[in-house]
Amino acid sequence: MCTDKDKGDVTRDDKTFSHQPVLLDEVIQWLSIAVSDTLGGVFFDLTVGGAGHLEALAKLSASGANLYGLDRDELAVSVATKRLSTYPQVKRIINAPFSTFSSVIKELEIETISGALLDLGVSSPQIDWAERGFSFQGDAPLDMRMGQQQTTTASEMVNSLGVSELSAIFWKYGEEKRSSRISKAIVAARDTQPIVTTGDLRNIISSTVGPANLTRTLARIFQALRIAVNDELGELEKVLPQVIDSLEVGGRVGVISYHSLEDRIVKQTFARYAGKCVCPPGMPMCVCGAQKELQPLVKKPIGASARELEINPRSRSAKFRIAERVELANSAGASTEGNNE
Ligand SMILES: C[S@@+](CC[C@H](N)C(=O)[O-])C[C@H]1O[C@@H](n2cnc3c(N)ncnc32)[C@H](O)[C@@H]1O
Repeated sequence: MCTDKDKGDVTRDDKTFSHQPVLLDEVIQWLSIAVSDTLGGVFFDLTVGGAGHLEALAKLSASGANLYGLDRDELAVSVATKRLSTYPQVKRIINAPFSTFSSVIKELEIETISGALLDLGVSSPQIDWAERGFSFQGDAPLDMRMGQQQTTTASEMVNSLGVSELSAIFWKYGEEKRSSRISKAIVAARDTQPIVTTGDLRNIISSTVGPANLTRTLARIFQALRIAVNDELGELEKVLPQVIDSLEVGGRVGVISYHSLEDRIVKQTFARYAGKCVCPPGMPMCVCGAQKELQPLVKKPIGASARELEINPRSRSAKFRIAERVELANSAGASTEGNNE
């Protein structure tokens, strides 16, 4: 592996790890305040990837700031470590799933943080490098693990789950209407021969749906499997409360999501921490103890500008939400009225 320091690219064999950071200007606009603390603020990029966002923030950070990166992908950690090696404010790049955030900061003896970024989904190399097994183009082991320390691959899932479990994955994470038909075809095919490569799975799907719908169906099925293999929604549900609980007053968390299932979790978590009553509808008064701890800073998520969409098509589904930790209100509950929704 070698680095071109100027570009921050890392090459392996004949390939270059290159990922265009999404909504870079917007991340800087909303989160650079979290790295400008000369007295030692702590900022975490929990999906550091190729370090595009973190390097931009490192360039703007005060000399007293402490920046950390984290990623579950060993290759990303190695790329980010090399790219950021000349920034003394960048203290460490950690290899871990972000759902372990609380233990990571405990080990680092960090109590509160001034900011965090989560840029969800996959990096371009994870998709583009066929051997990672995420893409339905080409033929490679059907892997899809973001982190090599994870145990279950996509191949193991399609060879072991039953029709109803596979259907649930394809329907829930891919909104695939033919999930049942495709799951039955998978289970029938593996009786003859295990499904080992991305090509094996593509061939089963091609023989089940017509050519007119094939590319979209492949995209939905591969996305659904990826979400399941990496427990992407479970990871997000676990990390957000840990990050919000660790924010100091005035600290900010920003999340870029790429599909509606992720954005819903971010929106609902921010709303819950903003004191939205979650009592069952019709309750005469609030008993859930909702408290306002967080202020969402944008009503609607920020999307990519026309200029960014032109140069980076992968930004088209990006949605950026930002929230700021606020002083806890003194009262027992932010709203005493029940949930009248
Ligand atoms: C869209 S890329 C981030 C790109 C990065 N912002 C940049 O500028 O290069 C998403 C990254 O998040 C990582 N990731 C996704 N889910 C994760 C999780 N649960 N824990 C840790 N890292 C995760 C992926 O491995 C990938 O490298």
